[in-house]
Amino acid sequence: SSSKNIVIIPGDGIGTEITAAALQVAQAAAAQSGSSFTYETKQAGGAAIDEYGIPLPAETIEACRKADGVLLGAVGGPQWDHVAPELRAEKAILGLRKELGLYANLRPIKVFPALAGQSPLKAEIVSAVNILIVRELNGGIYYGARQEASVVNGVEQACDSEMYSRPEVERIVRLACRAAIGRKGRVTSVDKANVLATSRLWRKVAAEIAQDFSEVELSHMYVDNCAMQLVLNPGNFDVIVTSNLFGDILSDEAAVLSGSIGLLPSASLGDGTGLYEPIHGSAPDIAGQGLANPLGTILSAAMLFRYSLSNTQAAIMIEQAVEQVLNDGYRTADIFQPGFTKVSTEEMGRQVIARLR
Ligand code: NAD
Ligand code: IPM
Ligand code: MN
Repeated sequence: SSSKNIVIIPGDGIGTEITAAALQVAQAAAAQSGSSFTYETKQAGGAAIDEYGIPLPAETIEACRKADGVLLGAVGGPQWDHVAPELRAEKAILGLRKELGLYANLRPIKVFPALAGQSPLKAEIVSAVNILIVRELNGGIYYGARQEASVVNGVEQACDSEMYSRPEVERIVRLACRAAIGRKGRVTSVDKANVLATSRLWRKVAAEIAQDFSEVELSHMYVDNCAMQLVLNPGNFDVIVTSNLFGDILSDEAAVLSGSIGLLPSASLGDGTGLYEPIHGSAPDIAGQGLANPLGTILSAAMLFRYSLSNTQAAIMIEQAVEQVLNDGYRTADIFQPGFTKVSTEEMGRQVIARLR
């Protein structure tokens, strides 16, 4: 049937607050675009550890596999930081990404005009920003062989390893090149090829794949330089394609350009169900107080409509309403400045709904 079903995974910390707000926006946007969806709520992360003793129950994986899309808040928190590594709350998100084959994480970084003065960087520097970070999400050091700390010859040591195969690099670079078409057509592949073997393979394969895209201009940049260029000349970037770990770090850095990490959405895509989540975590420091910015999650719901529910109209509706809410001066605590209207997580969601059209 044409009725779509999504899974909501609130997770931990602010996860419950931001997914509640985003779900209401999504339902209102669906209705206004003449459609609807059903949803079921499933547990993962610390919440699942507390209820089932494991971070990622089989039931949650199964529901996600069958669904048309998944909206996730965030997982993890200090309560679960001292459990066995295999049982950590964060294992839930790593497990879901693997189980669902979500090898591409799209993290768009835009600066809303109303917030250009919000970044610690000069408004004229951030105004030009429109970056898409394409982060490899199924490989690299996140999934390489690991050795927890143990004493070897009287010295405590631990080990993590990074592996990338040609097919893994090929598919992510291909996706980045396709994404660049219709944008500015520029892809910056970010690596550490002056040191790492995985990066040397990455760079070689990236160059080969880009050959198939005559309309795309590929360049290579070392990750340390990229970290600097992101705050020095962020307007120069179009699409950035990079490994799992580098993409994780660079996207939190890039979030500063937008004014707050609470604003940034993401889509994790593969061959099956897509998963949508803000790029930030469970923010234990502000959880349960209505302080969290829900806009990154609301914009993730817009990406869900676009990529998984084939409802571009609802996606655009949400994105325009978010822009309008900021133009109208509504601010959660993270982006608040004197003279603006301070609102809670819930109220921000309601103000977005009031502007859907
Ligand atoms: P974090 O992103 O949760 O928080 C970093 C800072 O940003 C904090 O000061 C927080 O208050 C602020 N912040 C984050 N989201 C916000 C929002 N929506 N509105 C306003 N402010 C916001 O990162 P952390 O503190 O390093 O990690 C906390 C926990 O979250 C850890 O357990 C970590 O592993 C987990 N985490 C989960 C995900 C995920 O589920 N995808 C992502 C990142 C971190
Ligand atoms: C993210 C998070 C996760 C990651 C953690 C929670 C495993 O930081 O989604 O950016 O590192 O991928
Ligand atoms: Mn991260």
